[in-house]
Amino acid sequence: MTKKNNHHYDIIHGDCLDVLREIPTNSIDVTFADPPFNLNKKYGDYRDRQDFHDYLQWCKKWLQEMVRITKTSGSIFVHNIPKWLTYYATFLNDIADFRHWISWDAPSSPMGKSLQPSHYGLLYYAKDRRLNKFHELRYPHKRCRKCDYLSKDYGGKKSKLHPFGPLVSDVWSDIHRIRHNKRRDPHPCQLPIHLLERIILMSSDAGDTILDPFIGTGTTAIAAARLGRRAIGIDIDSQYIDITRAKLSTGIPQTKLGNTWVSLFCKEIITIADCDWQQLEAYFLVPDNIAHIDHVRILPDNRETPDVVLPG
Ligand SMILES: C[S@@+](CC[C@H](N)C(=O)[O-])C[C@H]1O[C@@H](n2cnc3c(N)ncnc32)[C@H](O)[C@@H]1O
Repeated sequence: MTKKNNHHYDIIHGDCLDVLREIPTNSIDVTFADPPFNLNKKYGDYRDRQDFHDYLQWCKKWLQEMVRITKTSGSIFVHNIPKWLTYYATFLNDIADFRHWISWDAPSSPMGKSLQPSHYGLLYYAKDRRLNKFHELRYPHKRCRKCDYLSKDYGGKKSKLHPFGPLVSDVWSDIHRIRHNKRRDPHPCQLPIHLLERIILMSSDAGDTILDPFIGTGTTAIAAARLGRRAIGIDIDSQYIDITRAKLSTGIPQTKLGNTWVSLFCKEIITIADCDWQQLEAYFLVPDNIAHIDHVRILPDNRETPDVVLPG
């Protein structure tokens, strides 16, 4: 679990449009963008306040470039508030294949005189749906913190449960925004690493290249490095670029159980690829009677996984 990552990354200081235009067509496995939301946030060099139409025209330019550089087997992801995603989707529907609107359940500040905004959207497009690389995912069963029983009532179907947990749906409520300042860089909108790891596990394999035109303080590049992928990140702000490069230069530990890539948060496995369960099962103590997992966690076998600790 603690081997250092030797995979490649390229962190580029510049305007993403200039850099994207230099990248060959059909050359990148996954493109992910978390642009400024035009909400007047306090970034370093970038002024996050454009006229409505200017903002959308600008977005269309980099969206078009993202689709162009993505391989035919590849995926395009865009993170934003629902308001802007409705425009992005209208544009992207003409140049790529819609797969999902993922709702990331993450509350933001009250806005007044509106429903409380409680999710961000993640648009997921395939460059070509028929060729798209996609891995189904699983997350751990949710349990009561006090009694450890499964939170959901599966009735008489408990013996049919998957020992690790359910398939990931298009609503993600188990990944929280960064809560502690000690885990945060001086950046107003840093995403959690395991959000990106889930996207990367779903859409790529080890050795693939993930590109983020708005890298900020490096979340996508770090997630890619932890999962043995290559990363290209671009940002217009030299301070954010310095932070990203400094973090990557310390050597990012790979998150692997045996030979299998997994996503971890606080030493708990948060996401696995469904197809990897066969290899991963050997690292867990699974009860003979699966129905017993309603009150027994499948703990990692400590002889095999000294670095992994599940809570409880
Ligand atoms: C929402 S933040 C991305 C945060 C990132 N996902 C993270 O977790 O750190 C948007 C980023 O876009 C950068 N940016 C704004 N305009 C840009 C442009 N034209 N080219 C490249 N980066 C730009 C900003 O400096 C900011 O860091």
